[in-house]
Amino acid sequence: MCKILVIGSSNTDLIATVKSFPSAGETIAGKSFFQAMGGKGANQAVAAHRLGGDVQFITCLGKDANGQNALKYYNAEGLDVSSLLIVGDVSSGTAMILVDDNGENCIVITPGANNMLSPAYIHKVEEDIAASEMVVLQMEIPYETVKTVCEIAHKHHKKVLLNVAPARQLDDDLIQKIDILVVNETEAETISGEKIEVIGTEAVVDTLLARGVNTVVLTLGKKGCLIKNNQTIKYVPAFVIEPLDSTAAGDTFCGALAAELSRGHGWDEALNFATAASAICVTRMGAQPSIPSEQEVREFLSMHTKSNLEYDSNK
Ligand code: RIB
Repeated sequence: MCKILVIGSSNTDLIATVKSFPSAGETIAGKSFFQAMGGKGANQAVAAHRLGGDVQFITCLGKDANGQNALKYYNAEGLDVSSLLIVGDVSSGTAMILVDDNGENCIVITPGANNMLSPAYIHKVEEDIAASEMVVLQMEIPYETVKTVCEIAHKHHKKVLLNVAPARQLDDDLIQKIDILVVNETEAETISGEKIEVIGTEAVVDTLLARGVNTVVLTLGKKGCLIKNNQTIKYVPAFVIEPLDSTAAGDTFCGALAAELSRGHGWDEALNFATAASAICVTRMGAQPSIPSEQEVREFLSMHTKSNLEYDSNK
């Protein structure tokens, strides 16, 4: 099994469920509140780890109670956080999340310590990058830090999986160092500068491939996902489930994809596994509390079958 190194954010999620989202200036009553561990980096690391991957996670925490809780939590999970950075005078990352009756969310993140994960620190952990096989990144740490990780990973011939969440534009020299780009429709449009409704899904994916990425995985929510590279184009449908909370569905997908690829599986198995893991996640509340184990995903797959349709670009 190949070693996966996830470098990214860690947040404490403060989650309120609401009937519907408030408008500007409106005060509404929430239905329930709870606190859980989150952050796109941490969610992807925990997902890859629970789903059977050999995972190391590098993040930055403050010295506050949230940071101490996070450290305890990662240790209790059995996640390798041996190169985690702890800084003073800054709060650990937080996310305020509203989840409505349709299971949709809106999120305000306050990065805090996540913004202190600097390029200089990445140079200090170059050995960890060199010792891994696949590096998994998201966009909740400074952009310059993501670029530095990609440069070092490229120098050591490591695979990079980049999930461009939250959405932002990418420089050519960064995008050319990415092996697997995982994006949703909004993220694909932001990077490509094109609209799916104007040029079509496949053309937007082609725009990303033309910029030098090896493989694009476009997640399509309830419709599943689309993979395209120079060997394959395939549409993988989603499982039909009753959604409760979509928080961390994309993170669970990325962690699961990394875990299954690290075991040497091909795209079909890996995408099916990731689609099942994120389907389970959506049926549960919160980010990390909703990430399933490998056994849960294997059982889910044995009970739910679906055919992997070849992608029909006219759809
Ligand atoms: O992707 C979900 C995550 O986004 C939440 O856990 C929250 O912390 C934000 O980072």
